[in-house]
Amino acid sequence: MKALITAGGHGTRLRPITHTQNKHLIPIANKLMLDYALEYVRQANIIDVAIIINVGDDSIRSEFGDGSSRNIKITYIPQDAPLGLAHVVKISENFVGDDPFIFYLGDNILVGGVSRFVTEFKNANSNCHLALSKVPDPNRFGVAEIKDNKIIGIEEKPSVPKSNLAVTGIYLYDNNIFEAVNNIKPSARGELEISDAHQYLLDKGYHISYSEITGWWKDTGKPSDLLEANRLVLDNIDDSRDGIITNTEVSGNLQTGKNVKIIDSKIDGPVIIGDDSIIENAHITPHTSIGRRCEIINSEVGYSIIMSDSKIKNVTDKITGSLLGNDVQIIGNNKDQSSHRFILGDQSRIEVD
Ligand code: TTP
Repeated sequence: MKALITAGGHGTRLRPITHTQNKHLIPIANKLMLDYALEYVRQANIIDVAIIINVGDDSIRSEFGDGSSRNIKITYIPQDAPLGLAHVVKISENFVGDDPFIFYLGDNILVGGVSRFVTEFKNANSNCHLALSKVPDPNRFGVAEIKDNKIIGIEEKPSVPKSNLAVTGIYLYDNNIFEAVNNIKPSARGELEISDAHQYLLDKGYHISYSEITGWWKDTGKPSDLLEANRLVLDNIDDSRDGIITNTEVSGNLQTGKNVKIIDSKIDGPVIIGDDSIIENAHITPHTSIGRRCEIINSEVGYSIIMSDSKIKNVTDKITGSLLGNDVQIIGNNKDQSSHRFILGDQSRIEVD
């Protein structure tokens, strides 16, 4: 069995972060998003993995190399433009050959990994196996229509969904999927849609089986999804503390990297803090991930992802629900702030409560 993992796409919903970095390298609980996908396929004993990247984007290759640091073998497949998920499958035909494979969207995170779906696909002996999840807003997804425990139809973003079961970003195929992706036509938005490929399989009489995801699953397209995924992962971290923690009250689980200094502060876990960061006279509230070499001084931060080399100093108002890129600085004047001054890049968004 092989694996195809996506790390290309537009990343529009995560601008401005994605102006300067690939979204699949955003840390969730201080672990790169794509590392979750790689770990899941490795746990399912899949070694031969292709990662689809946007042509010209070297950042993924620089991070993961040939895969040996993750005990897998990585092949990179550049996609000329994000022409759709079925297009991703189409350009991977040579890599896949005759093997069955898992197609995993690199921005999906789920509890428990993918081994279960691999086993259920094998047991079902089907041509395609989909992982479905009940969602409150099915009209945002591909939606499965089920009758007598069988998938009989799949619609992309239907205005009147026939079920609340969304097709998630975990798909397993035998090589009949290539007949589908080579025969469908681009949709109105100009993409080869994976839902159309699935509907093609159904129309031609191929068998699509499914599993329902019962734990949590997150498709991290928007900043709010990233924060929610970060919350869910942090809820399961262990308490492990390194570095110097003085005159600080800690409740809940706290995970710190090497050489962290926490002084005169209050930490309400779960919170994770990366190597060489300094927290001083600060209050960190639950579900916050702080990267490496950060400084949080005289400030309060909660429910946020702060990437590496960022500084928050002397900000009297609490910073919450925030996603800060690398090397971001927010500097206050330590007074109650009746006015704010921001120096921000293109397409930044600010929510002032
Ligand atoms: P999406 O989340 O559907 O799209 P996107 O990443 O382009 O983001 P946005 O909608 O905010 O612009 O993509 C799902 C996954 O598939 C994600 O890992 C990106 C990847 N992808 C490709 O690699 N190639 C493609 O042609 C498309 C459409 C997506």
